[in-house]
Amino acid sequence: MTEFARLELDGRTYELPILVGTEGERAIDISKLRSQTGYITLDDGYVNTGSCQSAITFIDGDEGILRYRGIPIETLAERSSFVETAYLLIFGHLPTSTEREEFAEQLTQSSALHQAMNKHFEAFPTQSHPMAIMSAMINALSTHERPKIDPGDDATLQRYAARLISKSRTIAAASYKSSIGDPIIYPRHDLKYVDNFLHMMFSVPYKEYVATPEVSHALNLFLVLHADHEQNCSTSTVRMVASGEANLYASCSAGVVALWGAKHGGANVAVVQMLQRMRREGLTPHQFLTEVKDRSNDRRLMGFGHRVYRNFDPRAKILRTAAERLLNSMKIQDPLLGMAQELAEEALQDDYFVERKLYPNVDFYSGIILRAIGIPLNMYTVMFAIGRMPGWIANWKELHDNPAQKIYRPRQLYVGNPKSEWVPRHER
Ligand code: CMC
Repeated sequence: MTEFARLELDGRTYELPILVGTEGERAIDISKLRSQTGYITLDDGYVNTGSCQSAITFIDGDEGILRYRGIPIETLAERSSFVETAYLLIFGHLPTSTEREEFAEQLTQSSALHQAMNKHFEAFPTQSHPMAIMSAMINALSTHERPKIDPGDDATLQRYAARLISKSRTIAAASYKSSIGDPIIYPRHDLKYVDNFLHMMFSVPYKEYVATPEVSHALNLFLVLHADHEQNCSTSTVRMVASGEANLYASCSAGVVALWGAKHGGANVAVVQMLQRMRREGLTPHQFLTEVKDRSNDRRLMGFGHRVYRNFDPRAKILRTAAERLLNSMKIQDPLLGMAQELAEEALQDDYFVERKLYPNVDFYSGIILRAIGIPLNMYTVMFAIGRMPGWIANWKELHDNPAQKIYRPRQLYVGNPKSEWVPRHER
């Protein structure tokens, strides 16, 4: 039986249906509010606004829970590969052996770029940011492939999803190679998804790079942990663009751009820059946190805080252990890991962070892993984008398959000039 919230407005009472999610989350359905009352709701930054109903990812920010299609992230991190996780997110179930093999084969077969695509790379100035190249090249890909997918046509969607997941990894490696002036390395059909990426990143024509199992495992884990995170800035952007009926590639290219900034995917770069600065200037965690707490500047402890998590981000827990394990196995002593651990310990006991419920997020330790693997700093957010691609595709599919889907079009409260006269130029 539907429950209702009652709203008193201008002497009248309105009943707004209460919707309940799978895990007991409650939402007030205001979709008819404006037509019934003339009012809109205002929620700058969408802090309390549910933009859709989704069956892909569940987060309980108070309990530090994250699940993809119902499966806890800790289990997927331990048992599933990135390719299997991608399939799970997009199609809603763990693949059977046949489904997995078919999907993996599609990824392998579509890993190379059209020869003409390679020419685009040459046109970007050296030192171009790989995020700019990546989003531009995914859009360029849509001019070669023209993805056309009818709602509910899962076979076609799967083909294009595999192409996009596979080729965005090739584009990422090629964007790095072209940014440093090295020849682009072709993918190999005998390598799996992660190893193939490492090969394209680090092989040179005169020397083949061979990934160790530890490195390949760590990168696989990184990608699994980044694969989806419900309605964040970039995923909402993908849905927004898709709602206007833009194609899959164009929508995901917009997602790449939305991910770029330091408050979102760019935070993994900012964390390492922050730790490097502390090291360079000899700042103790205490001195650095004093700077952060000084409200006369807008400095933040990067890799801390989250709109949804008000408790530990489960991904940060997993990545912290993974970073320690990887560095041990590679016999690397990275001073930044120790500094990050000390900084986190100090912040977690500091009233400023405790009161605001600020905890390490996914970006706090991920850069340590990427550094150990040898990924250059300006590629960190690109790595995030490769990982997030299945989540964006899953959200694109969910929206595209919904016959009742409307175009995303928020309202606003206008606070500008009232109706004004046009003034001739000589009188201004
Ligand atoms: N360092 C210092 N203070 C902070 C931080 C931080 N990292 N994060 C939030 N605060 C303070 C903020 O100043 C505000 O204080 P007050 O109430 O006194 O004004 C309060 O905490 C609430 O902050 P907010 O900006 O209103 O919170 P939000 O939910 O809008 O922002 C966030 C979430 C992730 C953008 C923010 O915590 C942040 O900027 N963190 C650092 C950047 C970062 O690590 N981003 C990665 C997020 S996880 C991966 C992803 O989504 O891409």
